[in-house]
Amino acid sequence: MDSPAVTPEQQPGPWQHLPVLYDQVLELLDPQPGGLYLDATVGLGGHAYGILERSAPNGRLLGIDADPHALALAQARLAPFGPRVTLVQGRHIELAQIAAAHDLGGFQGILMDLGVSSLQLDDARRGFSFRQAGPLDMRMDPQGALTAEEIVNEWPEQELSRIIYTYGEERYARRVARAIVAARPLHDTAELTAVVARAVRSSGGIHPATRTFQALRIAVNAELDSLEQALPQALELLAPGGVLAVIAFHSLEDRLVKQFMARESRDCICPPRLPQCVCGHTAQVERLTRKPIGPSDAEREENPRCRSARLRAARKLPAKRLEDGGQS
Ligand SMILES: C[S@@+](CC[C@H](N)C(=O)[O-])C[C@H]1O[C@@H](n2cnc3c(N)ncnc32)[C@H](O)[C@@H]1O
Repeated sequence: MDSPAVTPEQQPGPWQHLPVLYDQVLELLDPQPGGLYLDATVGLGGHAYGILERSAPNGRLLGIDADPHALALAQARLAPFGPRVTLVQGRHIELAQIAAAHDLGGFQGILMDLGVSSLQLDDARRGFSFRQAGPLDMRMDPQGALTAEEIVNEWPEQELSRIIYTYGEERYARRVARAIVAARPLHDTAELTAVVARAVRSSGGIHPATRTFQALRIAVNAELDSLEQALPQALELLAPGGVLAVIAFHSLEDRLVKQFMARESRDCICPPRLPQCVCGHTAQVERLTRKPIGPSDAEREENPRCRSARLRAARKLPAKRLEDGGQS
């Protein structure tokens, strides 16, 4: 099927601006006709649209998302591409299983655009935003067992403080945790926002609740564990020569991606103090980005939510070099 004539930004719907780092992602993935692509965070289908458009007339895409609401929108948006698209609700920890269930593997490109979509952030009923009152939910997958409500109202103060410090990088984490515990039970995001705003002062021009909400969302969705488990699966699913591109939105996520790509680009991962290699590890990828790619000033201005985006990419080594143990 030929690619549709409309571009993503021309389509009606909740996607006023282009997805984050759109041109840069497409340049790195370089979709080709006949290629097979995996968008593991298909969201509203913005990047997926570009991949399908550039891989016309017969490139295919498997799109995965934990959120069925996002998938429904992606389905509508990507409908013009017909059978070239397969959309599946699932989580990153199941990447390999999902691909196998659809008899798909050997992808030429895999994209992970992590975090929440603007659809999720702007829907008060999901509880992701401190800007609007909503339930203490924050689940990307509405069937997920853990909610923000449980963390906020039931977790011990110390554990609360730990996640706010670690995942939110909030230096006043102890103060915030103490304030939350003292205010229990909290009923919605507006109450939580007010409690946090009383406990910490705004810094760096961001709302005082930003870091705490980020921490809760990461904990509710086990985002770091999920990423850690998904990256090796993604690498395994790539065809030799295929490209893995990951957009992270906070430093912990970015560090995981950076360390993963660095480790997999090395022939030996033994500690430097060992006189000779005992690990037998061989390089699987070459890094395409030594430093992460961030949004341009123009993109930041148009879409302030993208300000912390960091894109990294690596190419799986061609079959010959993998056979030779990664040695060039
Ligand atoms: C930033 S949005 C992606 C936007 C998308 N690239 C686009 O162009 O519209 C991130 C998406 O990833 C999904 N997501 C986040 N963590 C996930 C996980 N562990 N498993 C599956 N989907 C996840 C979210 O539900 C959200 O829809």
